[in-house]
Amino acid sequence: MQKLVITGEKKLSGELCVHGAKNAALPLLAAAALCSERVVFKNCPGLSDVYASCRILTRLGLECKREGNVVKIDPEGIKNWEVPEELMREMRSSIVFLGAILGRMGRCRLSFPGGCELGPRPIDMHIAALRQMGAVINEEHGILDCYAPKGIRGADIVLSFPSVGATENIIMAACLAKGETVIKNAAREPEIVDLASFLNRCGARISGAGGSTVSITGVNRLHGCEYPVMPDRIVAATYLGAAAITGGEVTLLNARKSDLESVLPVFEEMGCTVFCYDGKIYLGAKKPLRAVRTIRTMPYPGFPTDAQSVFLACLSKAHGTSVMVENIFENRYRQVDELKRMGCKIKTEGKVAVIEGVKRLYGANVVATDLRGGASLVLAGIAAEGKTTVSNIKLIDRGYESIERDLALMGADIKRV
Ligand code: UD1
Repeated sequence: MQKLVITGEKKLSGELCVHGAKNAALPLLAAAALCSERVVFKNCPGLSDVYASCRILTRLGLECKREGNVVKIDPEGIKNWEVPEELMREMRSSIVFLGAILGRMGRCRLSFPGGCELGPRPIDMHIAALRQMGAVINEEHGILDCYAPKGIRGADIVLSFPSVGATENIIMAACLAKGETVIKNAAREPEIVDLASFLNRCGARISGAGGSTVSITGVNRLHGCEYPVMPDRIVAATYLGAAAITGGEVTLLNARKSDLESVLPVFEEMGCTVFCYDGKIYLGAKKPLRAVRTIRTMPYPGFPTDAQSVFLACLSKAHGTSVMVENIFENRYRQVDELKRMGCKIKTEGKVAVIEGVKRLYGANVVATDLRGGASLVLAGIAAEGKTTVSNIKLIDRGYESIERDLALMGADIKRV
């Protein structure tokens, strides 16, 4: 089993290019199944979840080739509507294939994605919406069997919560449906805008993405196009955090300020200097970090739940006490026990974490409990005195192309063994 071995207390500095966003690439790859002509994705990150999505597409009969960060998909041979359980299990976000396969084939059979390290991941909103659109969905022994006897048709859908995955599934199912679909209380995440921009470039008629009402008018077919995956805003936040926690500085290339409007001010409140210019983001942490006012995770444009654990690590080295409220996922403080082994003083109760800043963190043997929690252990490790070993790093590899390559480029002493 691979591990990351880190010798901490090196000030990080340098320039880094942020890779393409996992959470944009996965729905984009699924959406390629809706197209009738060749699709080329550029800036597609080399992540285990991306490889798993390509295997699902191949299984459906599409041709999927990867050359570096370019993925070329030829959808002409699509013939299957079933995703076998072993492929569904490889990637927890595979439910995003449901809307695409159903939209294109009028049928879809896949296994129910189980719980994950963030707690149960229900898909009730996805299912209710697709039923409103004419799908008949049977759930038996963990298998979802879906078909649309009269075809998928447009519907007015009101989501009880702006779920990212449900919004993506509805948009994909609606592109080739009969009539108009309107989603109210839609998720507004930049990854939704990326998905809609790609589909519109292929001839879809989607308006309002990025706002809370999204309208989709069905079309007969979608052609192909070449499309660059947006940069990963959570990877960007992680690397800004790496500079902040070590008292260093970093300039991020291929990072968008507009995606980080709720995150950058928190770094400033911690005492960091942040500049955005020409598609770059600079962060300098010349002064010791300070505690911040309560951070509450919220759907976009609120503070992202995926950046929460990075801030738990950074605030652990800030002067004073900070409070975090996690409003999106239960079980999202699982890395706290590991952070405590490194000297972090964090108390959690339900949704709330109280982080008392400490002067020093200490190296320890720790285990990644989830993707972003794993990244927070790495950040604590680069700031800690002595040696840290992070194991179970396959979880970190789901979202970072090579966290050790990037941090080493900025001067961290970190190796994969
Ligand atoms: C996506 C992201 C994930 C991010 C999350 C919130 C991908 C691949 N993953 O996950 O990194 O943390 O958005 O920004 O893009 N819920 C229900 N019923 C449903 C659907 C969701 O109760 O049918 C609940 C979930 O349990 C959770 C909340 O709604 O508490 C948000 O989930 P959702 O926005 O759907 O997140 P994902 O799409 O799974």
